[in-house]
Amino acid sequence: MAENGSSGEKVVVITGASGGIGAAVARELGRRGHALVLAARNEDALRAVAAEAGGRVHVVRADVTKRADVERLRDEALAAFGRVDVWINNAGRGINRSVHELTDDDIDEMIAVNVKGPVYGAQAILPHFQERGTGHLINISSFLGRVPVATNRSVYSAAKAALNSLTANLRVDLAKSFPGIHVSTVMPGIVSTDFATNALGAGSGPPGIRPTGPMAPQTAEEVATQIADLVDAPKPELYTNPAHPAIARAYYADVGAFEEQAARGFAPPPQPQPAADA
Ligand SMILES: NC(=O)c1ccc[n+]([C@@H]2O[C@H](COP(=O)([O-])OP(=O)(O)OC[C@H]3O[C@@H](n4cnc5c(N)ncnc54)[C@H](OP(=O)(O)O)[C@@H]3O)[C@@H](O)[C@H]2O)c1
Repeated sequence: MAENGSSGEKVVVITGASGGIGAAVARELGRRGHALVLAARNEDALRAVAAEAGGRVHVVRADVTKRADVERLRDEALAAFGRVDVWINNAGRGINRSVHELTDDDIDEMIAVNVKGPVYGAQAILPHFQERGTGHLINISSFLGRVPVATNRSVYSAAKAALNSLTANLRVDLAKSFPGIHVSTVMPGIVSTDFATNALGAGSGPPGIRPTGPMAPQTAEEVATQIADLVDAPKPELYTNPAHPAIARAYYADVGAFEEQAARGFAPPPQPQPAADA
């Protein structure tokens, strides 16, 4: 841990902490002795997670699609603990619709929660980080923002791709004048949470993929351990699935060939048949 005082405790804000990955990160960071500010819309669920996380925890009801809520979250965090060391933009929502089915409302909702929310978070906390010359912003994106392989996630993948770009732009901007401020992009693959059932249009539209092998789902706890390690040792990007860097390289090496394979459902090539007996 280290960096902040002899205890090594960091003050960490987590949005979308009422369930799934955010709740698992809260439990893991609480176990490691960090102070937490947990935000989401469902306050009862947040309080339950806070009880599990233990230690010094403050709960804030906030909708990340509302800039005023995000600014209040920052103000309450500073009032509770006097500083923020790490801000994790984790709140997000998926969709289960192909491009040709999207409505204006679908697009607005995906951009509001997956793009505007993290930008509001970054803009709210950056002046504090800049004043201190230190801080760590972590944006929870998705592997789909790097490799858009699940067509039913359509504008969700597009929103996460936008988030990846904005996160990279911010990282390069800050590297020049504020080298003590870290900016990280986290790109999980499929994680076993309620994400799919909470997705807009869940239960309708094309079925989601449920890959096996190297693209198989991870648990929220596995991913939370990696994010907690990132809090302790910042780096620019994290693929939570160790198979994904090679898959991303294969995608960018030959997009056409990769898409052909994706269209076949990544089925293994047909096995040669044994020669018939004479
Ligand atoms: N699970 C996956 O397969 C997967 C894969 C790649 C990336 N991710 C990303 O990981 C992050 C967490 O996803 P998850 O799997 O934990 O999903 P989840 O189980 O559906 O949890 C989503 C969390 O976000 C919160 N949230 C949603 N809309 C919000 C809003 N407008 N304001 C504040 N909080 C909001 C929810 O809380 P309330 O409803 O209480 O507000 C909940 O705590 C998301 O950014 C997601 O895109 C997930």
